[in-house]
Amino acid sequence: TAKGLKDYYKSFFPIGVAVSPYVLRDSATAAFIVKNFNSVTPENAMKMGPIHPEENRYNWRDADAIVDFATAHGIRVRGHNLCWHEQTPEWMFYDKAGKQVTKEVLLQRLKDHITTVVNRYKGKIYAWDVVNEAIDDDSTQFLRNSMWYKICGEDFIAKAFEYAHEADPNAVLFYNDYNTERPEKRERVYRLLKKLVDAHVPINAVGLQAHWSIYEPTRQELETAIKKFASLGLKVQFTELDISVYPWEKNKRELRPGEDMSYSDERKQKQGDQYQMVFEVFRKYKKNVTGVTFWNISDRYTWLDGYPVPGRKNYPLLFDKNLKPKEAFWRVVNF
Ligand code: XIL
Repeated sequence: TAKGLKDYYKSFFPIGVAVSPYVLRDSATAAFIVKNFNSVTPENAMKMGPIHPEENRYNWRDADAIVDFATAHGIRVRGHNLCWHEQTPEWMFYDKAGKQVTKEVLLQRLKDHITTVVNRYKGKIYAWDVVNEAIDDDSTQFLRNSMWYKICGEDFIAKAFEYAHEADPNAVLFYNDYNTERPEKRERVYRLLKKLVDAHVPINAVGLQAHWSIYEPTRQELETAIKKFASLGLKVQFTELDISVYPWEKNKRELRPGEDMSYSDERKQKQGDQYQMVFEVFRKYKKNVTGVTFWNISDRYTWLDGYPVPGRKNYPLLFDKNLKPKEAFWRVVNF
C-alpha cells in the first residue's frame, strides 16, 4: 500500500507499536515501522528488571536504542513501565542480608528508580505507564497482592505517580491494565482511578491494554469502559492492542485433545469483524482516545506465540508474517 496505517488515522490519534531493539536493526523492518507507525513503546527494554538489574547499575543500552531510533524518525515514545509486579528485579524487595525491606526503604528505592529513569528521557518520552496491573484478577479482591502491596500497602500507587510527576511535570501519566472492559474488573479499575483523582494524585490518563480476542469485548462493553473512565476527566489510550484468534482462558496452559488451533477462514473473518468494530468505536470516541498502540508488528512474531499455551502460534495483528496487510488491515482503514 502507498499509505501507511498511521496515515489513515492522521485526524484521529497516533498509531503505535511495541518494539524491541533487535527489530530496529533490520533495515526492512525499521522502514516498515517508520511507514506505518508514529508512536513506539519499548516491549521490554524499560521494565524495571531489564533497565535496573542491580541496585547501583542501570542498563540503558536497549532503551536508548529505541529512543534514539524514534527521535531520529520523529516518532513519539510511550514509556513502559515504572512499577509492575512482573519483570521486577528481586533485589528491589530485599536488603543485603536477604531480609525483606521496610516500606520506607522500598518507597525510597521506587523513588530513586522512577526519578532516574524518567529524568534520563525527559523531553523524549511524552507519556509513561506509571503503574501497571495493580488490580487483582480475582473479582472478590481489590488490589493485587504483589510485593509492592505486601510491603507498602496501597500507598505505592499514589507515590509512584508523584515521583514521576516530580521528575517530569510535562509527561502524561497513565495507570495501565488489562481486561478493563470486563464489568467486574472495570468497576475495580474505576474505583482505583476515582480514588486517585479525588486525592489529586497527578494522573492524566488510563491505558487499556486491549489484549482482546475474536470473542471479546463486545461493542457495548468497550463503549461503556471508555465512557466510564473518561467521566473521571482522564484521557484513554489502547496501549497493547492485539486480537487473539483463540478465546482468552484464564490459567489455560495446554490444548485440549482435538482442539482446533488452525487460523481458519472463520477465525480470519471474525478477526476482521472484531478489528472493524473496535476501530469504529475508537473513532467515535476520538475526543477521549489519544492513542492506539499494537503489541508487536506482525504475525511473524507476537508475544502470544506460545502464551499462554506453549507451542501454540497466534495471529493477532494486522500484518502477516511477510508484513503484508491482512483482511483485518483493510477493515481498519476502509471507513
Ligand atoms: C510482555 C512482552 O511482550 C513479552 O516479551 C515478555 O516476555 C512479557 O511481557 N502486559 C504488559 C506487557 O503490560 O508489558 C506485557 O509484555 C504483556 C502483558
